Amino acid sequence: MPRVKISVVGAGNVGGSIAQRLAEKNWYDVALLDVIDGMPQGKALDLLEAGPVCGYDSIVSGGNHYDFTAGSSVVVITSGIARKPGMSRDELLETNTKIVSSVVREIVKRSPEAIIIVVANPLDAMTYVAYRASGFPKQRVMGMAGVLDSARFRSFIAEALKVSVDNIQAMVLGGHGDSMVPLIRYTTVAGRPIEEWMPKEKLEALVKRTREGGAEIVNLLKTGSAFYAPAASAVEMVEAIVRDQKKILPCAALCEGEYGFEGLFMGVPVKLGEGGVKEILEYDLTFEERAALESSGKAVQELCQQVDRILMNK
Ligand code: LAC
Repeated sequence: MPRVKISVVGAGNVGGSIAQRLAEKNWYDVALLDVIDGMPQGKALDLLEAGPVCGYDSIVSGGNHYDFTAGSSVVVITSGIARKPGMSRDELLETNTKIVSSVVREIVKRSPEAIIIVVANPLDAMTYVAYRASGFPKQRVMGMAGVLDSARFRSFIAEALKVSVDNIQAMVLGGHGDSMVPLIRYTTVAGRPIEEWMPKEKLEALVKRTREGGAEIVNLLKTGSAFYAPAASAVEMVEAIVRDQKKILPCAALCEGEYGFEGLFMGVPVKLGEGGVKEILEYDLTFEERAALESSGKAVQELCQQVDRILMNK
């Protein structure tokens, strides 16, 4: 059986880590693309040479021209600038709108049937950019953020309770920014609601740390943003799609009526499998949860309006 071809656009820390994780699955051939001459080629060759030691024979190739991404099943877009300390994700909007829209136009020419996963920030708005630039149906364009935010929340809970992360289920919805919405009522530890495990103040502190999880890493690294957990999260989405796992994950997907949003990309529970977004699941929300999601939606909507203006003035 031929291997599934996955392209990763942007060979920085996120792109390189995604390529490594995909290669190690021994299930994919990976095309790593970047504008910087030599960088994707060097990282790809390095990964290829790790194969004999790690026991994979995936083909990892690197290049600067879109032609070698042709025929990809999934394309992960990590291109764009990352945050520096003190910057919000939204400050990346203008530059990354231009980068992501031009990347997507080139990608769709070579892989018209691909599924696009966006990892560039500000995430929800960049997913909207990819949707507009691709002309793809909504099932084939999505953004990675909720998996990462939920993973952070799960890690913090596991650490606080001294239990395995395996025991923790959590869903963080909404936009990938300060207004994200960790759903406390749907967070459980070994099936038992989180609120029975810790006092309210403790839980609120973990929610706050989750919302600021990206900035915590930016402040530590000083020269860029997180990449190990974002890469692992993107790969979980790729796997769910390629292996038709029908996995329910929080992803930025186009809502058309779901949760009261019309034409907005937002973090919602999605069933991922063959073909991409199979379904958006609508959870029952309390008045407060719904209000939090609405306010997060408003923040995303404002960014998307700015995107429209940027694309119009280009
Ligand atoms: C983060 C960035 C990548 O949350 O958005 O770490």
